Amino acid sequence: MAEFDASKISWQDQYKLMIGTVTPRPIALVTTLGPDGPNAAPFSFFNAVGSDPAMLMFSVGDKTGSAKDTVRNIRATPEFVVHIVSDAIKEQMNVCAVDYPYGVNEIEKAGFTTAPSCKVRPPRIVEAPVAMECRLMQIVDLGRKPYHVVFGEVVYFHYHDGIVNDRFHVDIGRINPIGRLAGKGGYTRITDRFEMPRLPLERVAES
Ligand SMILES: Cc1cc2nc3c(=O)[nH]c(=O)nc-3n(C[C@H](O)[C@H](O)[C@H](O)COP(=O)(O)O)c2cc1C
Repeated sequence: MAEFDASKISWQDQYKLMIGTVTPRPIALVTTLGPDGPNAAPFSFFNAVGSDPAMLMFSVGDKTGSAKDTVRNIRATPEFVVHIVSDAIKEQMNVCAVDYPYGVNEIEKAGFTTAPSCKVRPPRIVEAPVAMECRLMQIVDLGRKPYHVVFGEVVYFHYHDGIVNDRFHVDIGRINPIGRLAGKGGYTRITDRFEMPRLPLERVAES
């Protein structure tokens, strides 16, 4: 057994344990709008949190001494678009993670095409297979580092053709998302999927 008292290890070591342990993580590529224009950045502390209404969260740590552009922009314009990062756009996503100075448009640097959103002001990225327009619900500031956990309500969904059927079932093979693992460059694809239907209570009770 390896055991660690969290109060006795540094935040850097706790970070390594967290990102190496909670895997694979989906990646949100988030566009926002600030006074100097649009911005895009990826976040893997990300997940869905509910469905009435549809709600998402992602968590943004500060860079030394100041909030990241995404948080600054959402405080200025409380709307954002969450895109799912597919294998096809992974390199461009990686460009969006470069720590450019405030006001630099990472969307252009990455070579992405944007289109106006339907219900929010930040633009959406056309090359992303899924774009979810969100209105800010709440930012929860947590921890000593600190992290800003952004909760949003999805107000509009965009999918590339062929991903969603008429019963709202999503073909995740056609999204082909990548997941974040640990380390500087660790990612995974969803190329080894399997199914395990939920067990009805009667079947469990019999055995
Ligand atoms: C795959 C990936 C996942 C990331 N996840 C997070 C995250 O969950 N939280 C975070 O604060 N930074 C995360 N980052 C780093 C940010 O993307 C990076 O700091 C970015 O420059 C922030 O941009 P901004 O200042 O334009 O908001 C991640 C980077 C990559 C490449």
